[in-house]
Amino acid sequence: MNSDIRILMCSPKHYDVDYVINPWMEGNIHKSSRDRAVEQWQNLYSILKEQAIVDLVDPQPGWPDMVFTANAGLVLGNSVVLSRFFHPERQGEEPHFKEWFERQGYNVYELPKDLPFEGAGDALLDREGRWLWAGYGFRSELDSHSYLAKWLDIEVVSLQLVDERFYHLDTCFCPLSNGYLLYYPPAFDFYSNRIIEMRVPEHKRIVVGEADAINFACNAVNVERAIVMNKVSNDLKDRLAQVGFEVIQTQLSEFIKAGGAAKCLTLRTTEPMDVAIHANSPVESRTVRLEGHLLDSGAINRALDLIVEGGGSFQVLKFQLGEQRQSTSTAEIKVSAPSHGILEEILAQLIPLGAVDLPEAERNAELLPVEQAGVAPDDFYVSTIYPTEVRIDGRWVKVQNQRMDGAIAVTRSPSGPVARCKLLRDLQVGEEVVVDVVGIRTIRKMAQRDRDKHEFSFMSGNVSSERRVELVVEQVAWELRQIRDRGGKVVVTAGPVVIHTGGGDHLAQLIREGYVQALLGGNAIAVHDIEQALMGTSLGVDMKRGVAVRGGHRHHLKTINTIRRCGNITKAVEQGVLTRGVFYECVKNKVPFALAASIRDDGPLPDTETDIIKAQEQYAELLEGADTILMLSTMLHAIGVGNMTPAGVKMVCVDINPAVVTKLSDRGSVESVGVVTDVGLFLSLLVKQLEAFTAPYRAVKT
Ligand code: ARG
Repeated sequence: MNSDIRILMCSPKHYDVDYVINPWMEGNIHKSSRDRAVEQWQNLYSILKEQAIVDLVDPQPGWPDMVFTANAGLVLGNSVVLSRFFHPERQGEEPHFKEWFERQGYNVYELPKDLPFEGAGDALLDREGRWLWAGYGFRSELDSHSYLAKWLDIEVVSLQLVDERFYHLDTCFCPLSNGYLLYYPPAFDFYSNRIIEMRVPEHKRIVVGEADAINFACNAVNVERAIVMNKVSNDLKDRLAQVGFEVIQTQLSEFIKAGGAAKCLTLRTTEPMDVAIHANSPVESRTVRLEGHLLDSGAINRALDLIVEGGGSFQVLKFQLGEQRQSTSTAEIKVSAPSHGILEEILAQLIPLGAVDLPEAERNAELLPVEQAGVAPDDFYVSTIYPTEVRIDGRWVKVQNQRMDGAIAVTRSPSGPVARCKLLRDLQVGEEVVVDVVGIRTIRKMAQRDRDKHEFSFMSGNVSSERRVELVVEQVAWELRQIRDRGGKVVVTAGPVVIHTGGGDHLAQLIREGYVQALLGGNAIAVHDIEQALMGTSLGVDMKRGVAVRGGHRHHLKTINTIRRCGNITKAVEQGVLTRGVFYECVKNKVPFALAASIRDDGPLPDTETDIIKAQEQYAELLEGADTILMLSTMLHAIGVGNMTPAGVKMVCVDINPAVVTKLSDRGSVESVGVVTDVGLFLSLLVKQLEAFTAPYRAVKT
């Protein structure tokens, strides 16, 4: 026995499963046998008494989980941070544990009332005493970690738990002597796994599989070479033996019914303290302000979700509800994250929701110079579709060329700093780039947002998909009409399916009647449209009868050949070779088009731009100033176009494949509408609807 090591336990006299506060307790209320529990606890007690001195705290009636002394608090040296239980079911244990610690002469620290922390269940010392591993996500709040660091004067490494079954750190993580670590990686989020891997070299990490993990293999008590745990696999036992540990197994099934095993039933009250190491909790927090229709737009929920999913935690400091329906609400949220990098990533995601860093007045955006053309400094802020402003020299500067997935480049001009979104490849030496997330805000015009919401409000209602198509058609037709009449701009991006589904004539009609101001696509739509115009087939299929024509599979190559002979599409029209169809109408009506190549193109047509960077530039140019974009059955071009388009531009995405539609609406802009339907049908309905608008005028004229 090692007489320097002390462990605190509590007899299971009043133990039972009385309530459900973790998934293990579900279905187990009053299902554990007291006798068997006492026997199992006694066995554990005897084993531990061989290894260390075991102290006992008196069990209390009415507090069945008090056997789990790991949750009494966290002891280091002569100090203890008392637990603040998350669930009211266990809060009554606090005074009993407190009394015990005080009686032993500990320095007792108590956390603020509303800051949960569940003691050594969620805080495990590195066995060499180098730092404290602290868990959060279910029972303990990340903000409690800063207190631990301060009071215990130790470095805290925060780890986020993500699997409900492993709700306490000690259920899935067990630091062992000599720097070894026994753990179950899937219980942690991505960042935490990275942090663990950075701190513990691979040959010291003993990864536990799910089968052993759910037998609480990680919930082990390690005293020097001995590891005491519930029954586990021989494989794990062997792996531990290979690195010099002796596994002592003891059945603890009755306690697993409450979600605990060996380690939970103990609290080590003598922990190694490395005097050379001092407080350093990298937990960083920042307060941001969100303003707007936070509740009805769902923005507040989205923001809080983002923070948690991003590996952080939050505290709502202020929440001012708008009094009237039209007035806005304000929330001040303190965002905490276990490292600076994680905090930055979270804040970068909050900015598009309208979050502004506080205190607003003092922070300028951080700028770093471009040192290599086409390469941004690390940590560059990735732009979004939302109108953005950056604070430079104390002034908010509007970012030009707003688009997503760019960097914000800043140049100085005599009239002041100029900020613009640029693709990485376009960055120039001499420019500066916005890094980090301070001094950046996005402007979400609430008035505008409401209007959009109103206009498209019928979309969200409980309508059948057929009715939904009709409603979208009505709405789009109305808008095309309005835009045409005020000289606005509609851009269409379309895939070859438009032609196959018989939509070519309708699209041609829209162009002829002035509803389309630019057309974007690939080689294929042009080839199929022209094939149909020249030979009546689309990819060899007779468009009138819907059957394949003999030898028709060669038609599209002949088409390409014909256009190549003419020089290009425009020349084919001028030479009288091409006399109808979508591209004919484009040429005739001076509607510019851009065709972007892809790896599977036949030909391509001379008009097809094979330099993809140039093609992107052509697209961007034609998209400039667009009011509405119709995306007709083309995943590739729709997503490409979506990426270049700032928020505020309405996008209507029509595709028979719901995945494409979802992908587009995932960009979260309120202005995009998706319709899952046959594009040929959509276009025919659209044309009919437009004709219906126009018919009365015609009737008057004649
Ligand atoms: N029923 C207890 C709870 O849910 C079990 C505690 C287990 N303790 C532990 N350190 N993991 O709180």
